[in-house]
Amino acid sequence: MKHGFIGFGNLTRAVYHGLEEEKGMTFAYFARTRKETDILFCEQINDLVSFADVIWLGIKPQDLNGILEQLKGCNLEGKAIVSPVAGKSIAYIEKYLGKDRLIVRIMPNLAMAYRKSVTAFTTNRPENERAREIFVLLGKLGKAVELEESGFDLFTSVFGSGPAFILAFIQIFKEKMQEFNLPGPLLDELLLELTQGTTLYFAQNQKNYSIEELIRNITSKGGTTQAGLEYFRNHQIGKHFEGVLDAARNRSEEMSRNGNTFPENNR
Ligand SMILES: NC(=O)c1ccc[n+]([C@@H]2O[C@H](COP(=O)([O-])OP(=O)(O)OC[C@H]3O[C@@H](n4cnc5c(N)ncnc54)[C@H](OP(=O)(O)O)[C@@H]3O)[C@@H](O)[C@H]2O)c1
Repeated sequence: MKHGFIGFGNLTRAVYHGLEEEKGMTFAYFARTRKETDILFCEQINDLVSFADVIWLGIKPQDLNGILEQLKGCNLEGKAIVSPVAGKSIAYIEKYLGKDRLIVRIMPNLAMAYRKSVTAFTTNRPENERAREIFVLLGKLGKAVELEESGFDLFTSVFGSGPAFILAFIQIFKEKMQEFNLPGPLLDELLLELTQGTTLYFAQNQKNYSIEELIRNITSKGGTTQAGLEYFRNHQIGKHFEGVLDAARNRSEEMSRNGNTFPENNR
């Protein structure tokens, strides 16, 4: 399968690193500037389209219209379009490229690079063989789930932005640990061990125990964890944190609303 990346930024690089070891895959990209990479650079979008079986839209939402305008002028016969672009529906892309194009909308995260993304997937051609192949491929880059488009805003907040929120939590731990006066890199190493250990504990036990039970196993009556958890509950930290997820979801909804109003000449 030949993969053509439009844009070679954070996301498409993650896709590339996740797939580079896979047999039978070749890669090319088109961007405004040439990057430091061994994969083929196409100076013209037309060359990228001719090369690729699967075209990944790795540009920011605000750059999508310009790229779709350019793609409209290319021969897209037999090509699949994969869009991770936040807040842009399949219908939006169809407005430019036509309804007979195979379009796969996904919401992944950067852990695709390590084959640990959680990715939502939907398509306008569920029966299409290439669409099924792409779904299988996404499954190799982590866990992939088929999801109605109406679920993409919440999914984006939890799994697309999620890594940033989890890191923001880790950053709070790090700031607290400044009291130890340890060098920054060592702090990071300790926090990494903490998060990896926690993830492993979760992974080893999640089939047999609920998250509540796993928390309970760390908590002794009247102890330090209990004191912290009581503060957590009494101050509704969970509720506040839910606000973070809601803010991200609302923003995604807003982008979908604004993003899916079509420019006059594309109505
Ligand atoms: N990053 C994430 O964690 C994540 C997660 C889920 C979904 N997404 C979605 O993935 C998409 C890409 O995000 P990103 O973080 O990878 O963005 P990014 O790092 O900013 O990369 C954007 C790329 O688009 C290229 N580009 C912009 N305008 C172009 C044009 N007119 N012609 C050709 N190339 C152009 C840029 O090329 P130059 O460098 O040459 O300017 C750059 O390589 C977004 O729509 C986002 O919603 C991202």
